[in-house]
Amino acid sequence: MYNLAVFGNPIEHSLSPAIHAQFAQQLAIQASYIKILAPINNFAQAAQQFIDSGGDGFNITVPFKIDAYKLATELTLNAKMAGAVNTIKVTDSQLIGENTDGLGLVNDLTQNLGLSLKDKKILILGAGGATQGIILPLLQQQPSRLMIANRTASKAEKLANDFSKYGPAYGFGLDKIKSDPVDIIINATSASLDKKMPNIAPGCAEHAICYDLMYGEQTPFMNWARDNHALMIADGLGMLVEQAAHSFEFWTEKRPDTQAVIKNLRG
Ligand code: ATR
Repeated sequence: MYNLAVFGNPIEHSLSPAIHAQFAQQLAIQASYIKILAPINNFAQAAQQFIDSGGDGFNITVPFKIDAYKLATELTLNAKMAGAVNTIKVTDSQLIGENTDGLGLVNDLTQNLGLSLKDKKILILGAGGATQGIILPLLQQQPSRLMIANRTASKAEKLANDFSKYGPAYGFGLDKIKSDPVDIIINATSASLDKKMPNIAPGCAEHAICYDLMYGEQTPFMNWARDNHALMIADGLGMLVEQAAHSFEFWTEKRPDTQAVIKNLRG
């Protein structure tokens, strides 16, 4: 029996328990996966209580991914470079921190949407925590260029510099985006939360694959992509299920079937 959980604040609307219940059922694995609302200033204590009560592993969502990074006693390379942890595995002596967000995005793009990222020009909008979590797995797919464009140019420049030893990463301001088409645009800004789309050169979307990390509704970025002749438009629901699958595998060493779960969630 695996004792699993997800910590967040808020956490009420998390789809993770439903996703992990389907994974466990598919693989005939005995698992309990609960939602835990941790106090904003006391994630560590809430996590320790769960560990002391026999927790085997847990996910961490907003706003605790950096707290979880600090709590982990060992980090995977992914987690180290992401600067954030969304999955912890409890062992006898360690709390192993992993970040499955970027792996989930790459799996959704390559397995579910059938794309190859090799030699592609990828443009990421935003340079916050969401972006930092996806850069390494994207670079590992060997794109020809990974461009990070941000409202505050210096943050994009810093991220590109931090990851430059892993591949061709370039950082600049949103105003420097050219009107030349790129292959893939990923919206990793939080602008959609405010129902906004950054004002950028529309030509880059022409025949591009446009992917919003957000899910649940048609976002302003997705409308912008449609109006500017994108080839394909996707939201982040597939990434949500894929990152969960990586977490599930990290704890149980069994790989679930994600397509069936994505289909169920889309109804
Ligand atoms: P997250 O963890 O979701 O990435 P974050 O670390 O606060 O959240 O980062 C939010 C990102 O969205 C940042 O890149 C931010 O740009 P700045 O670094 O210039 O603040 C970007 N962002 C938020 N609202 C935006 C808007 N209206 N237009 C453009 N970029 C926006």
